[in-house]
Amino acid sequence: MMRRKLVAGNWKMNGNRAALAELNGIAAAASANPAVDVAVAVPFTLIERAAERVPGLAIGAQDVHDADKGAHTGCTSAAQVREAGAVFTIVGHSERRGDQHETSHDAWAKSAAAHRNGLTVILCCGETEAERDAGRAERVVQAQVEKSLPDDADGSWLTLAYEPRWAIGTGRTPTMDEIASIHAIARAKMRQMIGDRADGVRILYGGSVTGDNAAAILSLDNVDGALVGGASLTATKFVPIITAAAAL
Ligand code: PGA
Repeated sequence: MMRRKLVAGNWKMNGNRAALAELNGIAAAASANPAVDVAVAVPFTLIERAAERVPGLAIGAQDVHDADKGAHTGCTSAAQVREAGAVFTIVGHSERRGDQHETSHDAWAKSAAAHRNGLTVILCCGETEAERDAGRAERVVQAQVEKSLPDDADGSWLTLAYEPRWAIGTGRTPTMDEIASIHAIARAKMRQMIGDRADGVRILYGGSVTGDNAAAILSLDNVDGALVGGASLTATKFVPIITAAAAL
C-alpha cells in the first residue's frame, strides 16, 4: 500500500511571534513538494497566528486534554485548538510521558478527544534507554500501541510515531535495522488490533532526524515520514528533510 510521506515538525516550548517567519520558507517548500505532507506543531500561543500566516500549511498542537471542556486549570481542549486553526495534534509525546507522567491510557483518551473534535492525531510511542538496554524496546512499543491505539483508528485521521526517548534531542539515532525492526513490529501490532486498516496508518520515525540522515531513515520499509524537533525550528534545517522525503 502506498502511503504518502509526512514530515512533521514539533517546536516544543520554542518559538515566539518572530519565529513564525520560519513558516514562510517551510510553507514554500511544502507547496514546491506536493507529493509530501508537511505539518508543524507550534506552541498553543502561536497556533492562531501561524494558521493565519501560512493557510496552506497544516498547523497543529502538541497536546490536548481528553475532556471537551471543564474545570481543568492550565489545560487546553481539542475544540479550542481546532477553533484557533489547528488541524492536528501530537499526543503521548515522550516528553509528556516523562515530564507529566502521562500514560498510554491518557494518549488513548486524548486521541479519541482529538478525533471527535475534528483533529488528526500523531500518536507517539517509544522506549527509554534503560528499556532498550534491558532488551525490552519491542515489548514496550507493542504495549504502548496496544494501550493507546483507539479501536476506530485508521490512516485518515491517525499517524503513529516511533520516537525512542534516548534519541530525542541527543544527536543519537538507532541503527537503520533497529528502526526498521520496531516499525515492522508496530505495524504488526496495529494489524492485530485494527486489521487491514493498519496498512493505511503512517508510522513516522522521530529522534534526531536531520537533513543529513533523513534520506536513509525515510527510505526504510514502514517508515512513512519523520517527526522532527530541533531541526524543525528553522526553514534552513527543516526544508532539506522535506526535499529528502520528496526525492524518494
Ligand atoms: P528531535 O525531537 O528531532 O529534536 O530529536 C524529536 C521529537 O521529540 O519529536
